[in-house]
Amino acid sequence: MDNIISINDLAKVYDNGFEALKTINLDIERGEILALLGPNGAGKTTLISTIAGIVSPSSGTILVDGHDNVRDYRSARKLIGLVPQELTIGAFETVWNTVSFTRGLFGQKKDPEYITQLLKDLSLYDKKDNQLRMLSGGMKRRVLIAKALSHAPRILFLDEPTAGVDVELRKDMWRIVNKLRESGVTVILTTHYIEEAEEIADRIAVINHGEILLVEDKTELMQKLGKKQLIVEFKEPQFSLPDSLKDYSLDIDDKGLVLTYTYDATADATGITRLLQSLGEAGMSLKDVRTTQSSLEDIFVDLVHSDGIAANEQPKEKSA
Ligand SMILES: Nc1ncnc2c1ncn2[C@@H]1O[C@H](COP(=O)(O)OP(=O)(O)O)[C@@H](O)[C@H]1O
Ligand SMILES: [Mg+2]
Repeated sequence: MDNIISINDLAKVYDNGFEALKTINLDIERGEILALLGPNGAGKTTLISTIAGIVSPSSGTILVDGHDNVRDYRSARKLIGLVPQELTIGAFETVWNTVSFTRGLFGQKKDPEYITQLLKDLSLYDKKDNQLRMLSGGMKRRVLIAKALSHAPRILFLDEPTAGVDVELRKDMWRIVNKLRESGVTVILTTHYIEEAEEIADRIAVINHGEILLVEDKTELMQKLGKKQLIVEFKEPQFSLPDSLKDYSLDIDDKGLVLTYTYDATADATGITRLLQSLGEAGMSLKDVRTTQSSLEDIFVDLVHSDGIAANEQPKEKSA
């Protein structure tokens, strides 16, 4: 595996003694989209701020394309673009100037062609001469992304990019992220929206209480942890089932019309054939048969609960 970021035994204790990150080990692959999924207060912002070098680690190391992000801060930081969670942006500067200026801060030569293309990609070009205060919230967010990309970083962090934005901008954001991936940029985004992780991530890391609970390929995660159900509707009410199905985990609704069979979708033999055969042999006529699969949401809720604490329980304080 070709890792662009390698995090080893990282811990962060804030000055007030709060342990926001506990022994994080995580490798991020070059070119992937990784979603850091976790409830408020889980440590998402702390983790990405530490990787970006804005928050200093209490212990452990972070390598960014081989550069230690503390000892070799400048080289590491050059590779990173960060779109912060809060909308912090000037007022009287124009779009063009603020993005160009940010590029300069990273010690990069002026490159009007690059900035032009960047603004076009973000649908900002026709606003390039507008003052920032004239822009809508959605446009300001795009400017923050343009600033983060102004020095052509190889890694982009998006901290809750779509929290509180409208559906259209959210879809746009996902399109932008996909385009970045196509150009080889590694994207790490934090979110507490499960559907967002489900929609755009290649891999998902679930974080809670400063600990990574799992990191997994999205499709594998959904297959592995997803329970499947076969739902059979009868034409006539049925209150007893054939003896041959005693060993099945089955549920019938009160009206005797809907039978639910929960099974492991990854098992070699799911038992579906024998189930349907037995029902047929017992003369039960079926009206409909369908399957459902648990969503990432179910998986996430299960995980966060088995971790002992419900989502959103942690009081939110200001991040450094
Ligand atoms: N500067 C700080 N000092 C003390 N505690 C902090 C600071 N910043 C964040 N925290 C705490 O660390 C935990 C993780 O915060 P944060 O990383 O912002 O979580 P998330 O981004 O997942 O919502 C929270 O409990 C938060 O209150
Ligand atoms: Mg946060």
